[in-house]
Amino acid sequence: MAIQWFPGHMYKAGKEIKKLLPQIDVVIEILDARIPFSSQNPLLMEFASEKPTIKVLNKFDLADKRVVSLWQRHLECSDNIQTIALSAKVPETLKSILDLCKCIIPNKGKHQYISAMIMGIPNVGKSTIINILADRIVAKTGNEPAVTKGQQRIKINEDIIFFDTPGMLWPKIEHENWALRLAITGAIKETAMSHEDIAFYLVGYLVQHYPDLIKNRFEIEEMAADEYSILEQIGKKRGCLKTGKLLDLHKVSSIIIHEYRAGKLGGICLELPQEVEKEKRQAVELAQKRAVKKAARQKRRKGK
Ligand code: G4P
Repeated sequence: MAIQWFPGHMYKAGKEIKKLLPQIDVVIEILDARIPFSSQNPLLMEFASEKPTIKVLNKFDLADKRVVSLWQRHLECSDNIQTIALSAKVPETLKSILDLCKCIIPNKGKHQYISAMIMGIPNVGKSTIINILADRIVAKTGNEPAVTKGQQRIKINEDIIFFDTPGMLWPKIEHENWALRLAITGAIKETAMSHEDIAFYLVGYLVQHYPDLIKNRFEIEEMAADEYSILEQIGKKRGCLKTGKLLDLHKVSSIIIHEYRAGKLGGICLELPQEVEKEKRQAVELAQKRAVKKAARQKRRKGK
């Protein structure tokens, strides 16, 4: 499955970013530390791979610290990329972003600002970070993806100016798992995928990687064998049964998704570098298969 998701304003934003890039000294990409790959913006790699880039792994408070450091090592293998893991809920840690900008561009000269382009897909905490660093409300923040629109020039201090860009998502999401992770963390609107599918994926991942956290949170002694039965176990604990003792799948799905988002299960990441590498290969194979099928269809049509 490939998910198409590209509102018109994002296309326009892509064009504006390209135009702006020559005057940019450093790119700051805000990522969700729970999904450092899926929350990247592939357009950024296309446009700005030549620019020094700081990848900020935000929402560190919600993530698995061990996995985040694996990701930092992985991302820093690329030239030009440095990473910082932090939480915008701990405002005093955000200054490290500005310090790193100055470290990367040390000789800007007197009376000249460092121009930093700040990017991020919706909901990674970009507006929260900007507001804290600028010490005023400069961009709308909110839970609905893609609330931040238009481009803004924001003076952060005497040394640095941010160029804010709209929350841009992947033009096309090539692997179902990437879309599911974006939906779990709230970057994709809930209407784009079924609540139940998201919950099934989440439970499957938690059982595989964090079984103790799910057991502790929902007080399950012996975990059932499949995702539906585990959701049933959780549903019983949380009063999600309809008349006839049938599971209210929608209600229990909402509970686990919202508790995950709020960090109630503990620090959890939803992807590992080696898993993503495998998925990238799968995505390429899938795209090739789709291209072959499309070519065959076109050939058949021409033959008619
Ligand atoms: P965006 O501009 O990238 O779209 O994201 P925005 O700043 O609006 O943040 C999206 C949500 O993520 C907000 O929650 C914000 O508080 C939360 N958030 C941002 N950074 C962090 C972080 O480091 N840790 C945690 N735990 N949450 C973070 P909200 O529910 O919409 O708002 P609020 O009720 O928290 O104010």
